[in-house]
Amino acid sequence: MNNTLIVLGLESSCDDTAAAVVRHEIGKPADVLSSVVHNQGSLHSGYGGVVPEIAARAHAERLDYCLEEALVESDKTLDDADAIAVTAGPGLIGGLLAGVSFAKGLCAGSGKPLLGINHLAGHALTARMTHDAEFPYLALLVSGGHCQFLAVLGADRFIRLGGTLDDAPGEAFDKSARTLGLPQPGGPSIEKVASSGNKDRFAFPRPLSGKQGCNMSFSGLKTSLVRASESLERHGGRSTENDVADLCASFQAAVADIIVEKSKTAFEAYFERTGHQAKAFAVCGGVAANQSIRAGLSALCSETDAMFIAPEARFCTDNGAMIAWAGIEHYRLGLFDDYSLPARPRWPLDTESAPLVGFGKRGAKS
Ligand code: KG4
Ligand code: ZN
Repeated sequence: MNNTLIVLGLESSCDDTAAAVVRHEIGKPADVLSSVVHNQGSLHSGYGGVVPEIAARAHAERLDYCLEEALVESDKTLDDADAIAVTAGPGLIGGLLAGVSFAKGLCAGSGKPLLGINHLAGHALTARMTHDAEFPYLALLVSGGHCQFLAVLGADRFIRLGGTLDDAPGEAFDKSARTLGLPQPGGPSIEKVASSGNKDRFAFPRPLSGKQGCNMSFSGLKTSLVRASESLERHGGRSTENDVADLCASFQAAVADIIVEKSKTAFEAYFERTGHQAKAFAVCGGVAANQSIRAGLSALCSETDAMFIAPEARFCTDNGAMIAWAGIEHYRLGLFDDYSLPARPRWPLDTESAPLVGFGKRGAKS
């Protein structure tokens, strides 16, 4: 078995085309030699969401440029790679097919082994790439398309403890920003505007608060924001800048409260399912970039004596490095794929827990 592995990672499950080269020597921290991300935001901005056909075509057109850039940046060639890892699901089928076919072609041409990676596993394992987290740990995946708590027991063993029953928080941020006329992606826009707002002005709901378990719900919150904004307009014409700032601050505070309260119950669920206290809590996904949410989770971890792991923003949002890293983990477990590897729009990490009814911008998949 090689002590040092170099794996190429490819990601194309939603609206980011990404490629990365990661090297890892056993006993040392992972080395991200390159991580290239081409975001398709501008291609979809006129449509109010990701258009699957446009996304698939853009991935097919950009994957080879991304790969080329990632190789040049890492100062490696395809020959230097020990294997090629690719996101095989869950996500939009067209983009997944573009990535999986591209990876198969590379493997067939180079003779390198193929590693099909679950996108959610890529997010959940990032804490091991960036912070050398030891199994087992508690993870929260929180982005525009996903929201779930996981007990991460091994690179291929996950228990889903709970998650959203409807929208993902990033989706709620994006839709709310659209209502308020703020630019996409909505999360960073709302965070920026919220910094000058009063979070106590609007009493937005905290759905499922005080209820057992760590499931969450965000769609009612988004509707409350729409209602509050409409009511302001009915009473005083257009919302002022202050109104918008207060709406954003109140909305962000509600999302943070829900996530922090349910993270607390996720620690309990983790204990019930594994028989151990979680020693580390890793957060990942685009929404994990939000400073109020990070601050709330970090405070919770201080109370529970768990190490708080929040990877830097570029490894929280979709990227190829997390896929390459998960590939390294699979390689070490001997989990190789052959050319029958399918692209799977739905691919739950935990096949034993009952599916959640949630949906995200990539469709139901958790
Ligand atoms: O992980 P990601 O890049 O892609 C998905 O898998 O969805 O996450 C994108 C989501 C978007 O909904 C975006 O609005 C949200 O993450 N986001 C944020 C922040 N930065 C990105 N939400 C709240 N606060 C932020 N600072
Ligand atoms: Zn993602």
